[in-house]
Formats: sequence, structure tokens, C-alpha cells
Amino acid sequence: MGDQAVPAGQSVLSLKGGRQMLRLQSPLPERYISASGAELAEMIGAAKATLGRRLFILGHHYQRDDVMRWADARGDSFGLSRTAAGVTEAEFIVFCGVHFMAESADVLTADSQQVLLPDLNAGCSMADMADIEQVEEAWEELAQVTDVRRIVPITYMNSSAALKAFVGRHEGAVCTSSNARAVLTWALQDGRGDKVLFFPDQHLGRNTGFELGYGASDMQVWNPRLALGGLSDLEVKESTLLLWKGHCSVHQRFRPEHITAFREEHPDGIVMVHPECAHEVVEMADLVGSTDNLIRGVAAAPAGAVIGVATEIHLVKRLDDESPDKTVVCLDPLICPCSTMSRIDPPHLAWVLEGLVEGEVRNRIQVDAEVAEWARVALERMLAIT
Ligand code: 13P
Ligand code: SF4
Repeated sequence: MGDQAVPAGQSVLSLKGGRQMLRLQSPLPERYISASGAELAEMIGAAKATLGRRLFILGHHYQRDDVMRWADARGDSFGLSRTAAGVTEAEFIVFCGVHFMAESADVLTADSQQVLLPDLNAGCSMADMADIEQVEEAWEELAQVTDVRRIVPITYMNSSAALKAFVGRHEGAVCTSSNARAVLTWALQDGRGDKVLFFPDQHLGRNTGFELGYGASDMQVWNPRLALGGLSDLEVKESTLLLWKGHCSVHQRFRPEHITAFREEHPDGIVMVHPECAHEVVEMADLVGSTDNLIRGVAAAPAGAVIGVATEIHLVKRLDDESPDKTVVCLDPLICPCSTMSRIDPPHLAWVLEGLVEGEVRNRIQVDAEVAEWARVALERMLAIT
């Protein structure tokens, strides 16, 4: 479907080349754009009250405060997938997060439940760094040089449902930043395989590999733009972890110099970083963890602590606001918002909720049935491992 076929104020998901999802979000009607913060809060509150238990709003920790205040449950991507799987009563699940999270929620909820994403342009640049064509091509190339039955494909939660279905079909699993260690242990150390193809975040894969005791020589970066990932046959054969050349544009900004500068200013300061940061940053941290783990880490720090955090700025600011006895600062002085997470704002939230009140489901995220079946296998494997 082309842009001209999108009705005003509506949005669609369309298929490019029959497989790749293209997200389109047309502009909102004027009343949402011109409304004040107070008017939008009134619209959202009224719609939420009218919908009652028919509605459940999930909020990822990177959401802005003026959206997060409406969430019935907050969480990291693992926690939210578990919560979504357990929300059996609500007819509508509005996901304040990014596209891959809403897809996973759709896969894990009943067919009778509908998942909505307030702005279809809330994607994830890292998730877009691996698509199903590239992964299938990589698999075929690997099959030329090694026994792919001994390779366990692992996809980070930050990936399309098509990639989750791929790993489901090939005896692999999904992982998140909070359970990557358990999932890699399951893949490599419980006799399941000799190698892992890990996509799309090389940093989470590398950091977890080091955590499990593998060395730099056990890991190779797979560049999907090059033949055989840019590797020799021998490099493929001798590696244990093949790490897809993908990264998070927010977390890659954090550098060791930021930590050095923080420690110079706060010799007793505590450094906490997300595992999507580069290994040289992770090595210098006192705590490495998913967004939920960072929140727990800050809560456990002693009163008076100064904590430097390497993650998305909305979470860092909320941690500071909600910890009056501690000082929480972002390790990157230039501050890094996740531009796609920030697309979920009160106007879009009000627009989808008022649509539901009027009987119109806007921005439903619905994964193709066959893809969903295999993606569920991969997600449920992850839930069973952790
Ligand atoms: P968490 O699983 O830690 O919430 O991370 C999700 C994410 O997108 C981090 O960039
Ligand atoms: Fe994707 Fe990075 Fe944003 Fe997380 S912070 S949603 S990985 S772009």
C-alpha cells in the first residue's frame, strides 16, 4: 500500500518485498497536535476510565514521564514480555515502547487480544540492522563451511518477529539484556551446539561471551554486507560466537573517557551501564545490567551515593527524580535520548485511546500467523530458560 492509500489520521503496516515490514504513521488530526499538556492528560485519563479493564497499558523504562504516568505496568523488555503474556483479561494492550516489543506482546497474547502501538514510527535502529533476508543468507553461507546443525541462532529481543521465527525454526531462542547469560549458557554449555550466531547486537553478545569465560579469539564479528560475513572459512570454523555487526546508536555513544571523567570528579562514585555499551565501557563499570537491573542497582546504593549511568536519558532522569537521597547523572554529558522511544507522546497516546472509546482500533500490531507461531516458540523457549 502506498502513502496515497493511507486515509487521513490513519496508519498502516505494509509489506515490502512480501517480507520486510515498512512502518508508516500519518500525521494526527489537528485537535491532538494543538492540545495543551493538560488537555491531553484529560483526554487520556477520561478514555482510560471509560475503557476500564478492557485496557492495559505497558510502559518501557525509556518512556517519557508524561507517557509513563499512564502505564499500568512498567518494565524492561523481558519483564514487559512476561507481563504481556500474563495479561489475560484486557481486550486491548497499548504498548508504550517500540515496535519489536509490541510485536512480541502480540505473539505472546491470545488471538482475541489486540496490541496497539501509539506511533508506528517508534522502531528501533538496532533491530533494523538485521533483516530476515540477511539472516537467511548468512545461514546459507555458513552451511557451506560448517555444520549449521551445531550452530544455535540467538536473537536479541530487539529484532523483528521474522527473526524470532527464524530462531524458533532453527532450534534457537530469544534473549534480552537481563537473561543473555542464561540463554547463551543454554545454547553453548548444555550441549545444544558448538557455536552461536548472535544478532543483531554485537555488544550484548560480546559482553555476555566474556562474562561466560570466552576470550576475544573465540568471537568474530559477522558483517552482513560482506561475503561470509567478511571472515575466512577458518575463522568461522574456529569461532564460538559469531556476533552480528549491529549496535544501539544510543549506547554506543558512551566511551571509557566518560567514566574516567566521572571517576575523577567523584572518586567514590558508582558506575552502572547497560550491556549494549561497548566492552571497554562495560569493563570499567561497577554494575552492568538491563534497565530493570539498573533501577534495582540504584535502589540498593547507599544514601548519598553519586551514580553515573550509561543508558537512555529518560530513565536516568527518572532515577534521579525518584531517588531524592542519591544523585544520578548520565555518563555522557551530551545526553542521549532514544529518538524512536520518544515518538510515543501524549498526542499519539490520546489518539489511540480515544479511537478505542469510539470503537476504532488504530495502529494494531498484528504478526502474521505463521511467523507468530515460530516466534512464540523462540520466545517461550526464552521464558522457560529464565
Ligand atoms: P532492556 O531490556 O534492558 O529494557 O533494554 C531494551 C532496550 O532497548 C535497551 O536499549
Ligand atoms: Fe533500540 Fe537503542 Fe532505542 Fe533501545 S535505546 S530501543 S536498542 S535504539
